[in-house]
Amino acid sequence: MLRRTLLGSALAAPIIAAAAPAFARRADPLAPLPLDRSTHARPEIARVTHVSLDLVADFDAKRLRGTARLNIVARPDAEQIVLDSDGLVIHAVRAGRRPTRFELGSRDEELGSALTIQLNGQRTIEIDYESAENASALQWLTPEQTASGKQFLFSQGQAILNRSWIPTQDSPGIRQTYDARIVVPDGLKAVMSAEMLTPNGRHAREGGRAFRFRMPQPIPPYLIAIAIGDLEHRAVGPRTGVYAEPSVVERGAYECADMERMMDVAESLYGPYRWGRYDVLILPPSFPYGGMENPRLTFLTPTFLAGDRSLVSLVAHELAHSWSGNLVTNAVWEDGWLNEGFTSYIEGRIGEALFGVEHARMAEALSWADIQTALGAVPADGQRLHWVGEVSANDNSSAITYDKGALFLRTIEGAIGRERLDQYLRSYFDRHAFQPMTTQAFLADFRDHVVRGDAALEERLKLDEWAFEPGIPSNAVEPVASGFDDIPGYVAHFVSGGPPAAAPWEAWNTMQRQRYLQTLPRELPAERLDALQRAFALNDIGNNEVLFDWLMLAMANRYQPAVPSVERFLTSMGRGKFVRPLYRALMGQGEWGQAIARPLYARARAGYHPIVQTAVDRIVTPA
Ligand code: BES
Ligand code: ZN
Repeated sequence: MLRRTLLGSALAAPIIAAAAPAFARRADPLAPLPLDRSTHARPEIARVTHVSLDLVADFDAKRLRGTARLNIVARPDAEQIVLDSDGLVIHAVRAGRRPTRFELGSRDEELGSALTIQLNGQRTIEIDYESAENASALQWLTPEQTASGKQFLFSQGQAILNRSWIPTQDSPGIRQTYDARIVVPDGLKAVMSAEMLTPNGRHAREGGRAFRFRMPQPIPPYLIAIAIGDLEHRAVGPRTGVYAEPSVVERGAYECADMERMMDVAESLYGPYRWGRYDVLILPPSFPYGGMENPRLTFLTPTFLAGDRSLVSLVAHELAHSWSGNLVTNAVWEDGWLNEGFTSYIEGRIGEALFGVEHARMAEALSWADIQTALGAVPADGQRLHWVGEVSANDNSSAITYDKGALFLRTIEGAIGRERLDQYLRSYFDRHAFQPMTTQAFLADFRDHVVRGDAALEERLKLDEWAFEPGIPSNAVEPVASGFDDIPGYVAHFVSGGPPAAAPWEAWNTMQRQRYLQTLPRELPAERLDALQRAFALNDIGNNEVLFDWLMLAMANRYQPAVPSVERFLTSMGRGKFVRPLYRALMGQGEWGQAIARPLYARARAGYHPIVQTAVDRIVTPA
């Protein structure tokens, strides 16, 4: 046995090294990982390497039910493996083929329970189970909540929600390959963040249709994702396409027409796209995020469908995660900026390549303003890129993680030049492909490859201050966007009583309109808001980012004529970024706003995703 292993590896090693992709090259499968406080797993003892799901979607019971088979690597002396579970119903567990003992620990409010399984010397585990009741990662939609009038299911794993439907080690540092067989009711289609092996499904012995999937690249388990619905696919390029319900797919394909070019740009900057196809799935409006970078299949809110492609930076962002996040992944959620800050930077670069420098500068200027707002609102501890102290894996101030993170990289770019940064980032993604990353390791890597002992450069960069201190270091440069040059003048004109129609609203793009609305005084009398509404028909504007900026301003001023529009908006979609601040704005308006928010939320709540419900439950408190 020993001889065979030695001989086998001695002979096979050179061949494997030559032929294997980067992700297969990992030397030690139990290599130490940074401590992740968001998991019960003990990866230094035993680690999941592959998840194989065989599940039936039961829309009546709102459960996924079946078996998960796990492949494991473990220390020779390992007796148990610890998985994460949040409410999973476990029916039976086998080690190898034989029943084994398991124990579900007490439930931590945030982390869920440890699921500890006796290995009995085996390295495969089978778990017969069903997803949790009201699983936090799953939203089961009724026919009334979808465009097609058919039922729908989607999952959202990030940050630590997948443990409510998959019994595995739910830590971003523990990469796993996966495959799945998913049985769905007739007339529906399953899609996953994986290669689709059966585009039309097959007749299933359980009844309904079975779909098979395969993800051969090891991914952090928060990226395992599923959706089931009446889905149609439309290609927009050789490697790219859009899934959506039939009545949405046409609009989706129009909005996403630039996707293939975005991929080309990203590849030319950061190296090959490693995931095969890139499709997006446009979800029903209750999807709680703008987008989620599930590999091969980004999940998107339909609220980005503006009809004029003006909000496609969202797609650029999710695509960029194919490098920052999905290829090189934050090892722990405290380093979330390594995913989101890098991605926001790359999103900007893709936007610049597609739509020009002026477009990019405007996006940067809006982002700069968001940082300034956050610095005024967030306590010092919450202003660090690398979070310290008690932070939950699920909350972060996006202006810090996203915008300060991107500004850090733009500051480096300014200091060392674009060419050098591009070259570095390309090598960073190559060298760390399919591996976890920490802030410390990134800084060490950057120093090794770029700073290389140059004391003057080290001094200019202020790397540690950016990563570990609150605020914005003094080497940050405020972006100048000439497209915004005239806006302060129009704002001043309006403030001094001039008609808003003096502003070239029709000629402005989305970002200019946002800048105008965001820089108007926060306090305005009803008569001035009337003037804006009359000039630009803001209550009915189709662009949801602009609508949101308007409604925030209107609610802050208790502007009654915008209330029907707020009610329409908050009952027609459930994107957290829009929903949370609007309820907060209403609740902050005393009696007036609370009398709107409470009945409105009572009506709208059932349509929101569990994540958004939990957040808004804390905002809209009973009288
Ligand atoms: N990965 C995030 C979504 C996310 C973040 C889910 C944290 C769970 C926890 C995604 O890539 C994202 O950043 N989405 C943004 C859009 C983007 C253009 C800033 C969003 O949802 O608004
Ligand atoms: Zn992101």
